[in-house]
Amino acid sequence: MEILHYEDYQILLAIPLLLSVYFYYNCETQRLRHIPTIGFNSPILSYLSAIKFTFMGYKMIQEGYIHYHGQIYKFPTLTRWYVVVNGPTFTEEIRKAPDSTMSFINALDETIRITYTMGHYMIENTYHNSVVQSKLNPRNLGNIFHEINDEIIHAFDLIIPPSTEWRRYPALETIIKILCRPVNRVFVGLPLCRNQEYLDLGVKFTTDVFTRAIILNMFPFFLVPLVGRVMGPSRTIHRAADHIAPLINENLKAQSNGNKDSERKCSSLFLDSLIEKATEEERSPDRLAGRLLTLDLAGMHTTSTTLVHALYYLAFRGNEYLEPIRAEVEEITSREGWSLDSLSKMKKIDSFFREILRVHTMGPLLSRITLKGYTFSDGTWIPKGTMVSASSDSAHYDQSSYPNPREFSGFRYVDKGERERKGNRSYDAVTITEDFMSFGFGKHACPGRFLATVNLKLMLAHLVLNYDMKLEHEEKRPKDLYIGLSILPNTTAAIMLRKRVLE
Ligand code: HEM
Ligand SMILES: *[C@@H]1O[C@H](CO)[C@@H](O)[C@H](O)[C@H]1NC(C)=O
Ligand SMILES: *[C@@H]1O[C@H](CO)[C@@H](O)[C@H](O)[C@H]1NC(C)=O
Repeated sequence: MEILHYEDYQILLAIPLLLSVYFYYNCETQRLRHIPTIGFNSPILSYLSAIKFTFMGYKMIQEGYIHYHGQIYKFPTLTRWYVVVNGPTFTEEIRKAPDSTMSFINALDETIRITYTMGHYMIENTYHNSVVQSKLNPRNLGNIFHEINDEIIHAFDLIIPPSTEWRRYPALETIIKILCRPVNRVFVGLPLCRNQEYLDLGVKFTTDVFTRAIILNMFPFFLVPLVGRVMGPSRTIHRAADHIAPLINENLKAQSNGNKDSERKCSSLFLDSLIEKATEEERSPDRLAGRLLTLDLAGMHTTSTTLVHALYYLAFRGNEYLEPIRAEVEEITSREGWSLDSLSKMKKIDSFFREILRVHTMGPLLSRITLKGYTFSDGTWIPKGTMVSASSDSAHYDQSSYPNPREFSGFRYVDKGERERKGNRSYDAVTITEDFMSFGFGKHACPGRFLATVNLKLMLAHLVLNYDMKLEHEEKRPKDLYIGLSILPNTTAAIMLRKRVLE
C-alpha cells in the first residue's frame, strides 16, 4: 500500500526541520528584543528582512550606521541575528574583551564552518598565525624583498607579456594569476611557486571552502555536523599535500643533518618555519598543506581585490592618480633603486592604498561570538552565543577623522601623515588606528598585512612603470558589488594594457 511517494516523505521531513529553525530563531529573537532592529522585528516578518539582507546587506548596515549613531542595533540574517555596535567606545570594548568572552575563531567558524571545510585542527591550534607574525614582518620581508620583486617581474612577463598593441585583460582574474606567484615564492619558494598545477590548488581551495560553507549554512544548525561529516573537508588539501611532501622530507633531512645549508634545496622561508614550529602531530603533509592553503585563502582575494580597486581608479582617472604615482616611483627608484626601504618612501602609493582600504573595506563588520553574557558600557546586555560585530563604517565615515568622508581622496594621508608624524602618529597603510580598521583590530588584527602591502605596492609600481592602461568602457568606473556582508570590486570588468610608450 503506497500512500506517500518518496518526495512526500521529504516534505514531511522538512516540516519539523523548519519548525526547529523557526523555534531557535524565535528564541534568539526573544532574548535580543531589547535591542533596536533594522528591518522587521517580529519572528516571521524578520525572515523577509533577512532575505532582503542577503541581497542588500551592506545598504542595511549603512542605514544602521545613520539611524543608530553611537548606539547598538541588530539586523536579521537567515540563520541568526547580528548585533552591531556603532562607535569608538563600543569598538574599544570589543577590542579589549578577552577571547574567552568574545571569540574571533568561533565567529569565523560559523561563517566558513572551519571544522567541516578545513578540519578541526585549524581551530584547536592556530600556530600558523604566530609564524606569519614572526616571519612576515617588515624586518624579515626586507631580507626576502628581492625574491618577491624577482617573482613579480617574472609573473608579469609571463601573464601580461609586453605588447605594443592594446590588449584586454579581465582585471581580477589576471591579478590573481600574478599575485599567487610572489605569495607562494614566500610560502614554498622555487620551483614550486611556478608550478601551475600547485598554484591552481590555492584558488580552488578558496572556492571549495566557500561553496561548502554556503551549502552547510543552508541547513539548520543541529544538522550541520551530520551534513558536514558526509561532505568532508576539501579534497584539494590532499592534492596540495602531494606537492609539498617532498619539501617536508628535505627539510626534516636537513634538520637531522644539523641544518647544513648545502644539504637543503628548499629555500622556502615560510614553510620551513611552519615545519620547525609544528608539533609532531602537525607535521603531516596534509596538515601543513591545509595551513598553507588557508593562508592562501586569507590573503589572495583580500589582496587581489584591493589591487583591482586601485587599477579601476588608475585606468579611469588617468591623470589624477596614474601620473603622480608614476612620477613618485620613477623619482625614488632612480635615486635609490628597489628595496623595502625605497618602497616605504613612496608615500603617495601608500596613501592611495590606505584610502582604498578605507572606502572599499571588503568586510565592514568585524565579528565575534560571545561565550559569556556581556554588558556594554551603555548598559546594553548581550546574551551568550550572540554574534557581535564592530562596524568599521562608524570609524571610516566619521566626519571628525575624515573631512568629506564619503569622498575618495587617494592622497589624503600624504599631508596628514606628515603633520601627524610629528605627534608620532602614523598613517601608513599597515597602521591600525581607531579610525582605520580594514585590517581588523586588537589581538586578531591581520598578521598578513605587511606581506599584503609589499605585494600591493610592488605590483602597482611595476604596472605604472611598464604599462599604459585604460578601462575597456571608458565612460565609468565599474561599480562595486555588495554581496551579503562584503564589498567587492566588479569581478568581471576588464582593463586594457599595452607596453608603456615613452614620449
Ligand atoms: C589587503 C589584504 C588583506 C586584508 C584587507 C585583510 C584583512 C583582514 C581582516 C579584516 C582580518 C580580521 C581581523 C579582525 O577581525 O579583527 C584578517 C585576519 C587575518 N588575516 Fe588578513 N587581510 C589581508 C591580507 C592577508 C594576507 C596576505 C594574509 C596571509 C599571509 C592574511 C592572513 C590573515 C590571518 C591568518 C588572519 C587571522 C588572524 C587571527 O586569527 O588572529 N591576511 N585579515
Ligand atoms: C615622538 O618620539 C620621539 C622619539 O621617539 C620622542 O622623543 C617624542 O617625545 C615623541 N613625541 C610625542 C608627541 O609623543
Ligand atoms: C561589471 O562590469 C562589466 C563591464 O563594465 C559589466 O558588463 C557588468 O555588468 C558589471 N557587473 C556588475 C555586476 O555590475
